[in-house]
Amino acid sequence: MTASTTAVPDVASARELGLLLPPGFELGVATASYQIEGAVDEGGRGPSIWDTFSHTPGKVARGETGDVACDHYHRYREDVALMRDLGVDAYRLSVAWPRVQPDGRGAVNPDGLAFYERLVDELLEHGITPLVTLYHWDLPQPLEDDGGWRNRDTAQRFADYARIVQDALGDRVSRWITLNEPYCSSVLGYGTGRHAPGVKDTHAALSTAHHLLLGHGLAVAAMREADPDASYGITLNLEPAQPVSDREADVEAARRSELLSNRIFTDPVLRGTYPDDAREVWGEASDLGFLRDGDLAVTSAPLDFLGVNYYFPARIKAVPHEEPAPALRRVDDLGALPLMLADDDVTEMGWPVDADGIRRLLVWLHRTYPGLPPVYITENGRACADVPEGDVVDDRDRIGYLDGHLRGVVAATEGGVDVRGYYVWSLLDNFEWAAGYARRFGLVHVDYDTQRRLPKASYHWYREVIAARAN
Ligand code: FCB
Repeated sequence: MTASTTAVPDVASARELGLLLPPGFELGVATASYQIEGAVDEGGRGPSIWDTFSHTPGKVARGETGDVACDHYHRYREDVALMRDLGVDAYRLSVAWPRVQPDGRGAVNPDGLAFYERLVDELLEHGITPLVTLYHWDLPQPLEDDGGWRNRDTAQRFADYARIVQDALGDRVSRWITLNEPYCSSVLGYGTGRHAPGVKDTHAALSTAHHLLLGHGLAVAAMREADPDASYGITLNLEPAQPVSDREADVEAARRSELLSNRIFTDPVLRGTYPDDAREVWGEASDLGFLRDGDLAVTSAPLDFLGVNYYFPARIKAVPHEEPAPALRRVDDLGALPLMLADDDVTEMGWPVDADGIRRLLVWLHRTYPGLPPVYITENGRACADVPEGDVVDDRDRIGYLDGHLRGVVAATEGGVDVRGYYVWSLLDNFEWAAGYARRFGLVHVDYDTQRRLPKASYHWYREVIAARAN
């Protein structure tokens, strides 16, 4: 087999998929600041909660940190060239708050803003539209020292920071995502402690979720006032939840799982309410006292689009508290009892693969939230155990995953859901949070010793899909 045939396992099917996409459908790739930039001490950047967390022994696999990551801060031109050759319409990047405002409040760091100006200019020069996420988890450490997202004031600090970035980039960026996955920032960051800042407290998980959404709403209002013509959205990671059986306990556990992973975010944002069952489920752990009059009008500020990150569905089984968790995830300390079963095809992350899950999720959103704004899939992808052989990384499993999920998105649009675009996670292999560098999600392989970039077969496959579109 020659390198070129290995590089694109099935060109005909990639082209056929490209032709299936609705007219004007946008294709892109996504990354996040702490996962790729490195240069944590350069250009006046201050520390973030992920610097602190990753440097705390035992928090990240093998003690890995984002200190160098993909060195994107210095190599962004090469990375933009990879995107140009791929042919993407758009690039979803995130801005590191501690580069822009090292203390999280007050003084602005012009060098930090200048980096993003250079990056955005480079993208525009190559015809790539920037989609900018303002918060992808790297909270300035000084704000955490004052309580982080547990502190209601952080919501206002976030809105102020959003306006600072908008003032600098708003003449070139017209699409903004406030937060990435507030579920992870709150539930994993302050509930299970698996992510920075590593707090384990149910009430903190709920209050931080609320303050994040409040920050989102304040930022949207402030930015929209400054520029009514730009587009504003939020990215939520959502999971369709299915009970493993009709047993009442499993059905109830699935309902609670959906409450925790989806509805405590989608309801305040899309409906301006909290789900009725939130009090019933968490009443003992939290009085929800963080909720003040008028907050829900803020969190439900009208949006131009909703970003959805989808990776896997949750298959839920109720398990007794005392039983050791044999599989992937348990959030019983958060009042729900789901157990996600790793009973079939799983990725290197241990996440089950179910391409139809993305269709089910989109249809659920469409049915549950009348007036749902247009949706962009702002992340989707899989980790594979990619090993280069010479100049080839034959990542057929990733191609199969992306192909199946894009077809699921097409099926959702055919079912009436207004989905406008899809972004692969990720352009590059990168720092996969608590899992470190061993989990590779990129279309492009990164050799962390040399920083060499090597496009994988999936990169070539995606290029065919992009090129084949009818529009
Ligand atoms: C999502 C994150 C993203 C990446 C993928 C694999 O939850 O938004 O940064 O780590 O998972």
